[in-house]
Amino acid sequence: MKTIIEPFKIKAVEPIKFTTKEERTKILQDAGYNLFLVPAEDVIIDLLTDSGTSAMSANQWAGIMQGDESYAYARSFFKFEQAIQNITGFKYVIPTHQGRAAEHILFSVISQKFGKGKYIVSNTHFDTTRGNIEYNDLIAVDLVIEEGKHPEVYHPFKGNMDVKKLEEFIIEKGSENIPLCMLTVTNNTGGGQPVSMSNIREVSAVCKKYGIPLIIDACRFAENSYFIKLREPGYANKSVLEIAQELFSYADGATMSAKKDALVNIGGFLALNDSDLALKCKNMLIVTEGFPTYGGLAGRDLEAIAIGLIEGLNEDYLKYRLRSVEYLGEKLVEAGVPILVPTGGHAVYIDAKRFVPHIPPSHFPGQAVAVALFEEAGIRACEIGSVMFGKKDASGNLIPPPMELVRLAIPRRVYTQSHMDYVAEAVIELFAKRTSIRGLQIVYEAPILRHFTARFKIL
Ligand code: F0G
Repeated sequence: MKTIIEPFKIKAVEPIKFTTKEERTKILQDAGYNLFLVPAEDVIIDLLTDSGTSAMSANQWAGIMQGDESYAYARSFFKFEQAIQNITGFKYVIPTHQGRAAEHILFSVISQKFGKGKYIVSNTHFDTTRGNIEYNDLIAVDLVIEEGKHPEVYHPFKGNMDVKKLEEFIIEKGSENIPLCMLTVTNNTGGGQPVSMSNIREVSAVCKKYGIPLIIDACRFAENSYFIKLREPGYANKSVLEIAQELFSYADGATMSAKKDALVNIGGFLALNDSDLALKCKNMLIVTEGFPTYGGLAGRDLEAIAIGLIEGLNEDYLKYRLRSVEYLGEKLVEAGVPILVPTGGHAVYIDAKRFVPHIPPSHFPGQAVAVALFEEAGIRACEIGSVMFGKKDASGNLIPPPMELVRLAIPRRVYTQSHMDYVAEAVIELFAKRTSIRGLQIVYEAPILRHFTARFKIL
């Protein structure tokens, strides 16, 4: 059989409320044309994020009932710790309430230990990672390969880091000024694109040569591992768990938002091999998150993560998962809609520069497409372009990032194939009337991570 089906039956459902286009026009006005400010109830298909939006399994819900809510060294902590150690091999496992809490702890400790103004290098930092680095007076540097910056260029591992540039950067700045190197797997900001095992190995070797620890941003490690199995020679007959174990074996630690590949609605962790760094992070955790065996989580959350980490590595699940994203991408490509190719692990990214070439980066083409898609069909997507990553020069002019994207992130185990058909139809219809889409101007913005709260007006 060629048809790949959802490897689950649906046990509980949540009704969708339908809105009219007139209602959505008003909803957008009230939200200042920022989709983060739209009530979820007013969204027909919510593709804002794949984070914390997974449907948990019957097993995970059973685990919730098994949760041990003891303050210190609960049974659930040991289960959580064991699941993470088994996959990552890291010695010290520190629970946090989500990914950015792990980032906050790690970078504040790094900043205290090594001083301000140091560089944290990655293929591409996610927005909260960059935010936490900059908040701690460190400098975030992205060194993804050139192919990773061009949506139309095909490459099987577009999330790879440019190893030559990495070594040149280390020589230029001095290894003493680079306390950490990171790899985001898959590379969310660059299109959910995987990093190859050989790239991880090479990056690790360069880091070792200069004594720089390598930390994996592991949010989507299972999807990345499955891409390695499908695309990298030598891995077809290995299990995804074995691939993941090898991936982590080249690193010194990881930050993870369990809200992605661990299939839960809340949770995360920091895992490290360095005992001194782990101790400092645990002490910081006690101040900001909680005792080191629960972080900001309940025992039941730790149970659900431990079970979800195993389910997230199931190959029937991963086959369906990557296929459902690819399916949507194929439909759009067939209709001539410009998207980032190949499709990533968790999302389809519309290339707004080619979708609305009449809107310059200063008028936020990605935001304009996302707003129009909501108005037309009630689909909520997320801009990943000049709103999220735009910088300003000394005179306040926009310095745009390399790409202007609109991410259609697919929540895990939530939507069916007909939901994807609806999304494809809506995007294709919008593409047909793309010349009517108008740019936007920001009327309010916060000093950091402005995309969450900015307000716009239509030009
Ligand atoms: N790193 C990556 C690569 C991420 O994609 C995210 C979150 C984080 C770190 C932070 O994790 O949300 O648990 O604090 N990404 C979500 C998204 C929000 O929509 O892509 P968090």
